Amino acid sequence: MKSILLVLGSPRDRASYSHQIARRIVDDLKSRYPAANVVVRNLGKEPLPAVSEAFVNGRVLAADKRSAAEAKALAVSDVMVGELMAANVLVLATPMHNFGISAAVKTWIDHIVRPGVTFSYSDKGPTGLVRGKKAILVLARGGIYGEEPTKQYDFQEPYLRAVLGFIGMTDIEVVRIEGVALGDDAIRNAVTSAKAKADDVVRVLSSEASVQALAEAA
Ligand SMILES: Cc1cc2nc3c(=O)[nH]c(=O)nc-3n(C[C@H](O)[C@H](O)[C@H](O)COP(=O)(O)O)c2cc1C
Repeated sequence: MKSILLVLGSPRDRASYSHQIARRIVDDLKSRYPAANVVVRNLGKEPLPAVSEAFVNGRVLAADKRSAAEAKALAVSDVMVGELMAANVLVLATPMHNFGISAAVKTWIDHIVRPGVTFSYSDKGPTGLVRGKKAILVLARGGIYGEEPTKQYDFQEPYLRAVLGFIGMTDIEVVRIEGVALGDDAIRNAVTSAKAKADDVVRVLSSEASVQALAEAA
C-alpha cells in the first residue's frame, strides 16, 4: 500500500457522519500501512471549479492543441486525475443530497472522468483505464434506502458504482450510515453499525493485500 486518496464531499466536515467514518477508515489503514502516503481532497472546504466552456472544449483536445484558457481549465482536472491514478485505495465520503451525491462530489467526478485519460473508446465500447484500485464508498443518508419503496430513490450508491465502474474501478466496498434523520437512537445505531462495517472492510482489505504480497513475493 503506497498511497491512499481520501475524498471528502460533505460541506459539514467535522460534523459530517460520512467524513467521520471515512477518516476512521483512513486512520485504520494508516496504522496498518505506516509508510502509505495519504492525500486528502476536502471538497467541502475547497470546492473545485464547475465545468466551464473552456474545460468542455479542452477536454477532448490533445494537450498541445489547447488554448491557454483551455489548458488552465484542464490543469485542475489533471491534478485530480493524478491523485486518483497514484492511489491504491480511494476512500470517498459523500452525503446523500436530494437522492444523489453532493454537488461537490459530482464536480470532482466531472474532473476525473476524462476521455483518453481515465477511459477510452474502442470497437468493443468504452474501456476504463483506472485499474487495480480499491474504492471504499462512505455514504451518509437521512433515510433508509435498503428496500422498496425507498430503494428506487437511491441515486447515490448506484450512480457511484456506475460511474466509477465506467472508468475501471469495479472493486468497490460500501459503508452506509443510514437513517440519521430518524432520531437519536437511529443515529447511534447507524454510526455503530457503520463503524463495525468500516473496521471489517479494512480488516478484509489488509488480509487480501497480505495474500497478494505473498503471491508477488513467491
Ligand atoms: C441539501 C440536503 C439534501 C438532503 N437530501 C436527502 C435525501 O434526499 N435523502 C436523505 O435520506 N437524506 C437527505 N439529506 C440528509 C443527509 O443525507 C444527512 O444529513 C447526511 O448525514 C449528510 O451527510 P454528512 O453527515 O456526511 O454531512 C439531505 C440533507 C441536505 C442538507
